[in-house]
Amino acid sequence: MTAATHWNLPVCERLGIALPIVGAPMGGCAGPELVAAVSEAGGLGLLGHANMPLDEMREQIRAVKARTSRPFGVGLLFPSGTKATPKGGEPPALPSFLAPFTRDFPAEGGPKARRYDNELAAERLEVAIAEKVPVLSFGLGAPPSAIARAKGAGMTIIALVGSRRAAIEVAARGADILVAQGHESGGHTGRTATLVLVPQVVDAVKLPVLAAGGISDGRGLAAALMLGASGVLIGTRLLATPEARTADTHKHAIVEMEDDNTIVSRCYTGKPSRVIRNAFTDAWKGHDAEILPMPSQWEMIEPLVEPAKRAGSLAIANWPTGQGAVLIEAVTPAGEVVRSIAADAARLLGSASGYLQ
Ligand SMILES: Cc1cc2nc3c(=O)[nH]c(=O)nc-3n(C[C@H](O)[C@H](O)[C@H](O)COP(=O)(O)O)c2cc1C
Repeated sequence: MTAATHWNLPVCERLGIALPIVGAPMGGCAGPELVAAVSEAGGLGLLGHANMPLDEMREQIRAVKARTSRPFGVGLLFPSGTKATPKGGEPPALPSFLAPFTRDFPAEGGPKARRYDNELAAERLEVAIAEKVPVLSFGLGAPPSAIARAKGAGMTIIALVGSRRAAIEVAARGADILVAQGHESGGHTGRTATLVLVPQVVDAVKLPVLAAGGISDGRGLAAALMLGASGVLIGTRLLATPEARTADTHKHAIVEMEDDNTIVSRCYTGKPSRVIRNAFTDAWKGHDAEILPMPSQWEMIEPLVEPAKRAGSLAIANWPTGQGAVLIEAVTPAGEVVRSIAADAARLLGSASGYLQ
């Protein structure tokens, strides 16, 4: 197999891409530089617009279009089971056991803009439609009304699922492609490991399935295809690229990680999310009962965590990162990452017949 390998997979055909690799819509990290680099390399880049103001989102979409004429998409979060935040309401106060953390990063006061409810996500969807973005990805939940609106506007729908039940539900609502996202994943994640979840979802639906969670190299892509997936969605691997909008301390922590130093915690957002373990996640031990539901937890800790994140603090800030970090050895340009994953997988798949005599 050569670099000119033609990938004959439903997902490539459906998305109009040459390589079966989709860049995860990582909120705050997958900006125009990363998305355009992934799409230019032959994959599909997805902008992470989880909680972005509408003007910024519009600018980012236009910035991608200025960089590439290839297909790309946006990722939105419509979290299921969340209560809308009262408009103009103050965020809840930080619990007292977090006081030591506010010494280095005094919590920023003042009313916060509402950023996390489904009403705002629906407004973001209207921006994506107005900007004629071809692909929409849903994380955390995919409400029927939002799917219908996006499909009616001609968008291709990708939806992340963490269980067989969710896969069947979202497929019935009209999703075009499912992402079977396993427990290894960075960010919000379910309980089932990728190796078990992918074949389960593949068997349950008649749609192309992308495998996600712990895929950092060509071995991961080759394995995912053997599980019945039609391609992969990768997040953590793309964080360790010059194009990713995350702190250098975060990129460094990923490259340096030799044994798994991630933890699944609800302490940042109110829903289980895999992040780098740090003093802040440790401080929540024994305080599970004080964790608020999404989006209140997010809003409560944000005045402390956002400034810490801007300063690159590994001790306090929220650094969503998957277990696949241990496989990443260098910060590498995103285009190179995508091309080498595809080329390595092609080589492995080509030599697999040697296992049989
Ligand atoms: C830093 C980071 C931010 C993420 N933000 C989002 C998001 O805003 N929306 C979403 O649907 N998924 C988000 N995810 C999850 C990814 O879409 C994807 O499922 C996951 O990264 C795949 O696992 P991997 O990190 O092991 O490659 C995020 C993941 C990371 C690592």
